[in-house]
Amino acid sequence: MSPFHLTRTLPEDATDAALRADVLHGLTRMPKTLPPKWFYDAHGSNLFEKITELPEYYPTRAEREILIGRAGEIASATGARTLVELGSGSSEKTRYLLDALTGLDTYVPVDVSESALTQAGHALIAERPGLNVHALIADFTAGLELPDTPGPRLVAFLGGTIGNLVPDERAAFLTSVRSLLAPKDALLLGTDLVKDESVLVAAYDDAAGVTAEFNKNVLTVVNRELGADFDPGAFAHVALWDPENEWIEMRLRALRAQTVKVPTLDLAVDFIRGEEMRTEVSAKFRKDGIRHELAAARLALTHWWTDTDGRFALSLSVTR
Ligand code: SAH
Ligand code: TRP
Repeated sequence: MSPFHLTRTLPEDATDAALRADVLHGLTRMPKTLPPKWFYDAHGSNLFEKITELPEYYPTRAEREILIGRAGEIASATGARTLVELGSGSSEKTRYLLDALTGLDTYVPVDVSESALTQAGHALIAERPGLNVHALIADFTAGLELPDTPGPRLVAFLGGTIGNLVPDERAAFLTSVRSLLAPKDALLLGTDLVKDESVLVAAYDDAAGVTAEFNKNVLTVVNRELGADFDPGAFAHVALWDPENEWIEMRLRALRAQTVKVPTLDLAVDFIRGEEMRTEVSAKFRKDGIRHELAAARLALTHWWTDTDGRFALSLSVTR
């Protein structure tokens, strides 16, 4: 195998078909929704990297702190020879794991963002000539097929991205991840924790407006891919804490009454002034809840680490 290998399991036009289906479904129901995985075109991936550096966005720094402190323990607990990472993005924090996993043979970053994968992949092989990198352009919610690489396998899902799935989707997702694991394999899961509302809301509504731009980028993606005429300036970014569901909900609020045309779908969508469309949730977790969700997918939590301030957790689980 060559050191860098890119496999596309999402056919280029599947993105299109799936986007059309999601947008048609989301814009014709009440309340309207737009589905989150479409945030991450090349521009969206770059905006997300900027979010990770914002003073208000603590999850990246908190998770990095845990990885720096615990990568050695993770390596000795798993002895992984293959590291699979779901939603790997820039693979920036992953470097702590790559450094600690001394017997590692292959890194398999999985992402829907081709631009993020190729950038990260090329940087990694330049830094680490001995490492095989087998990047997969794939949807981690859609039944992954992994390359045949040596075990034990460690599947990492960092960044709190699991919180972007709603509970039903999480249950299905964890079950499908469980089916990828053999007895000596493990799951390393990053989860953001429930905390003070003001801290949470600020992390998703920063003063510089980067998160607002990121949220509105989904409109630009729909414009470009489906010929729609959304005016991003006619929508405001909204982030609010839902205490029942314990998630941050991201919305776009129509600043005036308007009709948006989506020619590819033969659709004209009316918004009343003030109407809010849901674009993303980011659920926050508690240890008992996570343990329970893992157990329901026949995974047993073996380790639980938090940052010093108790804002974010990494957990390690094995099959049971
Ligand atoms: N792991 C990185 C990036 C988190 S952002 C970090 O912790 O900083 C979420 C990442 O998941 C993005 O790179 C996005 O492109 C990817 N992503 C979102 N939905 C996805 C899906 N359904 N399948 C695969 N990748 C997805
Ligand atoms: N996984 C990230 C999170 O939930 C994604 C994210 C950060 C995000 N900021 C956002 C998604 C703003 C949509 C809008 O923290």
